[in-house]
Parts: sequence; structure tokens; C-alpha cells
Amino acid sequence: MLIHNISQLLTMQGGPQRGRELGHLGMVEKGAVLMRGETIEAVGLEEDLLSRYADEPRLDALGKAVLPGFVDPHTHLVWAGDRAVEFEMRLEGHTYLEILAAGGGIISTVEATREADFDSLYAQTRARARTMLRHGTTTAEAKTGYGLDSTSELLQLQVLHKLDKEGPLEIVPTFLPAHAIAPEYKTDPDAYVRQICHKIIPAALDWWKKNAAEKPLPFVDVFCETGAFDLEQSRQILTTARDLGFPLKIHADEFDNLGGASLAAELGAASADHLVKTSSADIKALAASSTVAVALPCTPFGLADPHYTPAKEILDAGGLLALATDCNPGTAWCESMQFVIALACRALKLTPAQALAAATINSAAAIQRDDRIGSIEPGKQADMILLNINDYRHLGYRFGDNLVNTVIKRGRIIPVL
Ligand code: NIG
Ligand code: FE
Repeated sequence: MLIHNISQLLTMQGGPQRGRELGHLGMVEKGAVLMRGETIEAVGLEEDLLSRYADEPRLDALGKAVLPGFVDPHTHLVWAGDRAVEFEMRLEGHTYLEILAAGGGIISTVEATREADFDSLYAQTRARARTMLRHGTTTAEAKTGYGLDSTSELLQLQVLHKLDKEGPLEIVPTFLPAHAIAPEYKTDPDAYVRQICHKIIPAALDWWKKNAAEKPLPFVDVFCETGAFDLEQSRQILTTARDLGFPLKIHADEFDNLGGASLAAELGAASADHLVKTSSADIKALAASSTVAVALPCTPFGLADPHYTPAKEILDAGGLLALATDCNPGTAWCESMQFVIALACRALKLTPAQALAAATINSAAAIQRDDRIGSIEPGKQADMILLNINDYRHLGYRFGDNLVNTVIKRGRIIPVL
């Protein structure tokens, strides 16, 4: 099928964009794209492709902009229930870490999630996946982390695996038993770390080999933070996972600087995420590595906190910057990368072009899938969004509305409205 009549075709060609290079759109005005099966076959000027492929069926983009489907590289998609009560408590003056220390926060979602059966958890997760797709996300990373024991963590992995198989949203799973200290181990956090290293992560490896061996292993992630896992515990968990062959991620510097970003760089993690309180030394370490810095501006926004990721500093240091929603019930219930882009333009001072590259090709790099998704280039998977605007800058400029007209996943037009 030939997609034609495109005002601006943003190809994002040329691979992940480091430092001040960020924002290279690879734009073709009056462009066209030929897809064959699941794959992009040709990209170029409309006049060339219309004559070269005169007999192909056509899809008219109505003179609007087309870009790669958004890749959301950090979400906590599988959970049950909600935390509206805590939202209200925070507005009345209680902090996020206070609520967590008092047994609420992540732990209250753990309780609700442990109680939910597979079908209920699946249905709740699937509804959010549909919302993501409708807003133009064609691939999302998704973490476990609301089980904190083998049974419940594996159930969440199973939900994610089934959802990915069902499609059309492609799910890249992350295993996160180290999201909080399990309530059973409240008085002995080190015993929970041992449980994670000796039981829960090996159980995930077994489960994966039996049930999903055709797919790459999930990432393993740790919430390295005051009140969660300290630097030494994070190192133990991540090195255990790495030695078993898992690729790595980390939650670092959301509230306090514990050195998690440098640890991620040292261990060759795919990404270090949040990075609000990151020191200049940590930023340098990240920039000198292949670890992608993932900013999650919905999180401070959701917490009504004025501190955001120092994106300009990361770019000036030569780092790889990506954007994600962090979709979760505690700090940021947001499925829309369009909202993230609008926020990043204001709170992180990115231009729309920088935010778009950070939400496509660089976010594909944050989940180590930039060889296959994140740009519109021959040979890549045909994941694209047709917008209802003709100037890409309206993404970022406008917010609160859905500017996606049509979603294409693996070469198929997805009925999402
Ligand atoms: O990324 N920081 C840890 N995890 C989530 C919050 C999860 C929750 O509160 O349920 C985050 O912000
Ligand atoms: Fe998170």
C-alpha cells in the first residue's frame, strides 16, 4: 500500500540522536511511503513513488503530517484499582514518600493487584493499552512491580505477554520485583533483596524460557530511591540479573540522588529513567555511555512538583535523551505521548522537533529496538501515525486533544476510534 498526499513526512532516519544533534526530523515535504506486508519498502517524494508504484492500492493522508508511531519506553501498565484517595491526600499536604512509608503508595496498588484475578488484571491493562494506541503509541515498554512476590509478579508478566501476542500494541516487558520492599519484608529489606536475587528473578527466567522463548528476555529494573532500594541493593539486583542474561534499566534520582544513573552507565543498562535530582557527575557518566536518559515529565507534573529533568544539561553533555509517560496509578496516570511532548516543550524546554525525536527514534533506543522501530526507513517495521494537522509543530504547541487520525501497526490500519 502506498501512503501519499503527506504534507510533512518525518522519517527520523539515521539512528538515535545524541546531544545537540537531537531534533533531526529527516523531513520529506510532499512525501510518500510504500509498505509491503509488515515492512516499509520505500520512502521518498510523492511524485517519484506515485510513478514507480502506479498500481499499488493507495491510502490518502489528506495533506497532513505522518511520523513514526510513538514508542513509550517507560510505563507501569499492569495494575488493578486506582489511587484517587492519595491524589487528594497529596493535595492536602502529604508527600509521595510519606504515603509510601506509611504503607500506602505502591503498596496499596500491590494489595489491589494481588487480589485481582488474571482476567480482571488483563481487562484493566488492555483498556489502557487501547488508549495508548488511540493516542499514537505503537510500542510500549511495560513493567511488572505491583506483585512483589513470585506468583503475582509472574502473573503480571503473563498479562503482558498475552497482551503483546494479542496486539496490535506491541509490548516490551520489564520485570520489576524491585519496585518497593514487599510488605512481608518491611523490617528486613535485605532479606527481600536476597529473595529477589535467589528466587524471583530466577523464577522469571524459567517462566520466560518455558512460555516466551521466541522473544528476547524482558528488562530487569530497580527503583533506586530513598525508601525503596539503596545503591548497594540496586547493584546486587542488577548484577544478578545481568549475569543471568537480562538487559537492564533503572529508576534513578526521582526524589534523591543516590548515584543510580552512574550505576546504570557502569553496568551498560539500556536506560536510566526519571533523572530529576541527577548530579553533574552522573550526567557526565551517562553521556559517556550508551545508556539512554529517559525523562518522565508527567511524573513531576502529576505530583505538582516544580522540579523536572535537566534535559538541556543532558544534551549539552552529549547524552541520549528519550521521553516516556511513566503511566502508573500513583504519580502519572497518563497514556498519551502527545501530552508528554507538550509538557517536554514547556518544562524541559525542548523544541517540538527535539521532543518528537526523543519520543520515537531515541525512545526506541531506550528499549533497544531502534534497529526495527522508531523511524520510517526502508526495511523497518511499518509503524506509523497519520495526523490531523499539516505542520508537525502543532504537536507540542497544542495539548489536551488527540491529533492522531490513523494508526498503522505492522503495515495494518488499526481501527482505534
Ligand atoms: O515511576 N517510582 C516508582 N514508580 C512509579 C510510581 C509507581 C506508583 O506510585 O505506583 C514512578 O513514578
Ligand atoms: Fe516508573
